[in-house]
Amino acid sequence: MSTPQLDFPPVATATIRLHVNGHERTLEVEPRTHLADALREQCGLTATHLGCEHGVCGACTVEVDGAPQRACLQSATRFVGRSVRTLEAFDDDPVMAMLRDAFSAEHALQCGYCTPGMLMTARDIVLRLPEADEARIREELAGNLCRCTGYVGIVRAIERVLAARGPSAAGSGAVAGAMARAGAGDAA
Ligand code: FES
Ligand code: FES
Repeated sequence: MSTPQLDFPPVATATIRLHVNGHERTLEVEPRTHLADALREQCGLTATHLGCEHGVCGACTVEVDGAPQRACLQSATRFVGRSVRTLEAFDDDPVMAMLRDAFSAEHALQCGYCTPGMLMTARDIVLRLPEADEARIREELAGNLCRCTGYVGIVRAIERVLAARGPSAAGSGAVAGAMARAGAGDAA
């Protein structure tokens, strides 16, 4: 019996320009190409991980216009005119450096698959909620799943950074968060 030949129509692609990590990128995308695939496959930004691809696990968390956002849920075309930052943009970011050290010190990762998304969310918590307690940290982390650690080390790592920055970071953290949301911090 011969295998039937399926004749699929050609998929139309679109050329878009995205502002990613401080640079304009010209990408060729299909309608089904979500932001995470565009970042990973066309920009080589593989810190953005894919777990569930339906908005549950948070592994794909990036920053869009200063706020954390899933990269697996919307077409890349929806991000034209927005400012996207991936974990790679935060190599020299002092808060991210503190978080990386704290994650290491508190054993906040095992396989590391969730870690890029966790760090993106953790940075947002530190900047936006400088006085967050354990319960609030856990609430804020609810959108990021980790199958390895049990979350204890992750929560402690964030607490460690909050403690190191101190209550005086409350004002500057709020300002930094507001600036990031306004796109003023986009200097990757
Ligand atoms: S891969 Fe996007 S939320 Fe899981
Ligand atoms: S460290 Fe393995 S999923 Fe979080």
